Amino acid sequence: MKIDAVTIFPQYLEPLQLSLLGKAQSEGLVEITIHDLRSFATDNHHSVDDTPYGGGAGMVMKAQVWGEALDPLITPDTDLIILTPAGKKFDQPMAQSFARARHLVFACGRYEGIDDRVRMYYSQSEFMEQNIRVHEVSIGDYVLGGGEVAAMVIIEAVTRLIPGVLGNPESIVEESHMAEGFLEYPNFTKPSQWRGIPVPEILLSGNHGEIDKWRATQADLRAKKNV
Ligand code: ADE
Repeated sequence: MKIDAVTIFPQYLEPLQLSLLGKAQSEGLVEITIHDLRSFATDNHHSVDDTPYGGGAGMVMKAQVWGEALDPLITPDTDLIILTPAGKKFDQPMAQSFARARHLVFACGRYEGIDDRVRMYYSQSEFMEQNIRVHEVSIGDYVLGGGEVAAMVIIEAVTRLIPGVLGNPESIVEESHMAEGFLEYPNFTKPSQWRGIPVPEILLSGNHGEIDKWRATQADLRAKKNV
């Protein structure tokens, strides 16, 4: 999978080189490129934002600059993901759907967001005909300083679903079998007693039928507790 991310803070996305994702990139399973939006600003001050038409607080990111940055990245079969608190809420099914994509482009907005004509432009039928889709996505009902952290959340959730990225693909199979709210059961490892707290007896029994039942109940209890 190819991933491009456009931001005014390229360093914000540097952690994507670490851990599982760093390894996936060196193995050629994922290719991530970060682009500096400001390098596409053509005025003397390299400005990326301006005051909003109609007035109001804050600044809006300029459509021209975003257009220059996105035009060379958007090719047939690209999914353009615009991060915004007003977008569709990101969840595991959305992660699974993005994991099947060939090419994801993340537009990390700052300030009061990106001039809405950027979304409108790449949503036009000539792009749809090339299988180019635009998604406005939020990672939750809170407002971040910008889309960078949201992009990282989505990239991490999506790339671990790509075959070969996870060391143990069994964990993905297990997750996807947990239908409703796939909150997992609690886990324990050795020693069987820690600071006076024992591991639940059933897990030491070797009875896998009963263990599965216990885990299902525990996952259910957790899910109910967290609504
Ligand atoms: N930008 C600011 N807040 C955001 C959020 N909750 N999700 C995605 N992008 C954002």
